[in-house]
Amino acid sequence: MAKTSEYGIGEFTYPRGWMMVAASEKVTEIPSEARFFGEDVVLYRGASGRPVMLEAYCPHMGAHLAVGPTGATARHCVQVVGDTIRCPNHGWRFGPDGRCVDIPYSSISIPPTLGLRSWLLQEWHGCIFAWNDPEGGDPTYQLPELPEWNDSRWIRWTIDEVAEMDVHQLELAEHGVDKIHNANVHGHDRLVGHVATFDGHRAQTDSTSEILDPEGAVVAHFTTNSRYAGPALLLAYTEGERPTMFFFAHTPVEDGKVRGFHGVMMGAAGATPDEADREAYESMRAYSLDAFMQDMEIFKRKRPTLQVVQIPGDGPFRRYRKWYSQFYMPRSETARIQEEANGAVTTEGTHDAPWRQAVCEALPAEQP
Ligand code: FES
Ligand SMILES: [Fe+2]
Repeated sequence: MAKTSEYGIGEFTYPRGWMMVAASEKVTEIPSEARFFGEDVVLYRGASGRPVMLEAYCPHMGAHLAVGPTGATARHCVQVVGDTIRCPNHGWRFGPDGRCVDIPYSSISIPPTLGLRSWLLQEWHGCIFAWNDPEGGDPTYQLPELPEWNDSRWIRWTIDEVAEMDVHQLELAEHGVDKIHNANVHGHDRLVGHVATFDGHRAQTDSTSEILDPEGAVVAHFTTNSRYAGPALLLAYTEGERPTMFFFAHTPVEDGKVRGFHGVMMGAAGATPDEADREAYESMRAYSLDAFMQDMEIFKRKRPTLQVVQIPGDGPFRRYRKWYSQFYMPRSETARIQEEANGAVTTEGTHDAPWRQAVCEALPAEQP
């Protein structure tokens, strides 16, 4: 696995952005432990329903705040009190913003700086996202609207957790512009259209493949619209009798290692989902996970792509890396980077009609 600094995409180790940390149903009044952004964290849901993520270790003597319900302390310890969490060791309590709010056996005035690192969380369609910002600022963009979530025609997703992967999240994200692998890895017959559009914190890819019969005649078109919102949330739509939306989120656990979350939503063929729609949904969910595993067969064994040797016909990887660098640079640089990245790039060519454009904007000058 390679680290952020080896890719040369910016000065921060972990990106600024909204990143998924759990399925909503997994965050309860019983604190659970996790690891993100190189830190052990504790996740819980306060009495008000508010999800909370804090640094895991108590500043007093270092107890892990998720220890309790399954340990010997279970008899004595009530951990979540209102929206606060109580340390199992000496009972100090901390609020959702991480500040220490109570030391039960002392009347000292608690300094405002005594506390834990906290993350701003947002519940988003069955998922919990954390705002991570190396500069400690407020969100610079919003998570996307998802009108399908409240549309009775659509079957909502169930979140599938994906095993941790020794892959830098840059490489997972830029996979969205990897045109040619769709034929070789995913079996698309002919790739006829591929346009990547960079727009602020969003990067979108519209791609069309043709499905051929054994004689080579075109029997169907397969169009996918894939959108990254920020560094780590992909939504991909395909049209059809039952429109489908694929969801993939990936969050750094360590520098160069991510944890993934996957989901599928599907629109019913009629006004509301019936049994046939639910069957179609389950088979699409399995198909999508299988496609993901096809990618992972490559990712698990490849060496990191610290620099892409990009030729005409590949997708716009270097433009993508420019766009992606906005999340690893100070926010004072965001507008400049977005201005340099914004715009649409068409990648032409198929296996039977290669793109012969002589000039490739993305090849470094020193490469042939
Ligand atoms: S270690 Fe947490 S209160 Fe003492
Ligand atoms: Fe893929």
